[in-house]
Amino acid sequence: MNIEEFREVWEENKELRELAAKDKDRLNYHIMPTSGWVNDPNGLCQFNGVYHIYYQYSPFDVNGKLKLWGHITTEDFVKYQEHEPVLYPDYRYDQNGVYSGSAVVRNGKINYFYTGNVKHLDGDYDYIMTGREQNLIACSSEDGFNFGEKELIMTNTDFPSNLSLHVRDPKVYPKNGVDYMVLGARDDNSTGCVLVLKGKDLKDWEYHTIIYSDEKFGYMWECPDLFDLNGETVLVTCPQGVPEEGYIYKNVHQNGYFLMSGDLAAKDVKLSKFRLFDYGFDFYAPQTFEDESGRRILIGWMGIPDADYTNRTTENGWQHALTMPRELILKNGIIYQRPIEEIKSLRGNNRTFTADEFKDLEVENLSFELCAEFEKCNEFKLNLRNDISLSFDKSKGLIELNMGESGCGRDVRYTYCDEVRNIDVYSDISAFEIFINDGEIVFTTRAYTDGIQKIGFEKLDGAAKVYMYDMKKIVFGIDEF
Ligand code: FRU
Repeated sequence: MNIEEFREVWEENKELRELAAKDKDRLNYHIMPTSGWVNDPNGLCQFNGVYHIYYQYSPFDVNGKLKLWGHITTEDFVKYQEHEPVLYPDYRYDQNGVYSGSAVVRNGKINYFYTGNVKHLDGDYDYIMTGREQNLIACSSEDGFNFGEKELIMTNTDFPSNLSLHVRDPKVYPKNGVDYMVLGARDDNSTGCVLVLKGKDLKDWEYHTIIYSDEKFGYMWECPDLFDLNGETVLVTCPQGVPEEGYIYKNVHQNGYFLMSGDLAAKDVKLSKFRLFDYGFDFYAPQTFEDESGRRILIGWMGIPDADYTNRTTENGWQHALTMPRELILKNGIIYQRPIEEIKSLRGNNRTFTADEFKDLEVENLSFELCAEFEKCNEFKLNLRNDISLSFDKSKGLIELNMGESGCGRDVRYTYCDEVRNIDVYSDISAFEIFINDGEIVFTTRAYTDGIQKIGFEKLDGAAKVYMYDMKKIVFGIDEF
């Protein structure tokens, strides 16, 4: 599909956009597709004050078949504008999808690297070792809107021969004058790993090394990200095929990070134990960037590939969303995630409750933030909808998110937790982002309810103070195109 074809179909799809706009599950303060499907955030950057959020977008198909790069900008994370998509599958090397990629602001322009997906349909292929191409493509823009020519940088035959054809999602890590590029990969033994290329001035890319974990951790690692944070080096990946371990790794695919020690230049690195970013049902493919004020900001896809439940929004012409932007801070080997400061400006109608008062509250506006500060808490059960609850039991060392019927196929998720000091629950109509202990533990999930909901403590052993705010809608404009 090229831009002319896109414009034609966009015109024809007015009804789908109108159907989506009317849906009662639409979100107030999260990015979601105007119609169709959204997945990974791509090319995140801030350029001359403007934040550019590109993303995997299938505007005409709720199940996300052919991917292009959608484009939204904001200067303050309150007012957003959707623009015409910037990258289309119109090139020999990306004809079956402009897959995920990233951006580097340098030399007065934005430099992009992404994966062009090509699927061969002329034979009997396994699409792992045969039948596909994942091409590394570069392009650039002087304004973030108008993109220059696509340039093929490498294709599968340029990658080490022990890798399968699954090699994708480039992200650049500049360090000591060298540009490293990480790509998620599956090797010919079906072990997940990260391919590292090396370049100079974002050019002359060549093979550097492959990074593995100590023990096999899944068959494929998607969407890697590599960055320095508070004196450590963090390697993010989305491993596929990791078996359940106690109460965790229950989703079909995982997302999280290793701390990386050693010397990348000398190809001598070691990965720590993996830690999940998020324990909910709907979080995957996060990407980070450093903004002009030096914050490390993460945006994730509020969804997961290959999940075995159906979002009811698909009946209304759209599916999935992106998380709020989260600022990352690393302390004692753990990444803490907090919604960026700007999100606070969406707060309105502040109310304060004692724990006793915070029971069976009838709530009609499901766009709210709920903060609770605990003292000596041994146990609680906090209802967030009629049948959705967050519970903590100190004696078991567990925190549990129970979705009831409103999970529409999502049931229970847990994680280990010895103490709860505070929680910050963002409810946005059909989405939750729940931050525990200043963002040490996070649960992100979609949830579907109808009508007035009762929220509040059903059980509490300990003391708590609760603050609630209504959350305003972000301002969201769409260019004519
Ligand atoms: C992750 C992912 C990436 C790929 C993109 C395609 O969700 O599968 O690996 O580039 O989505 O949309």
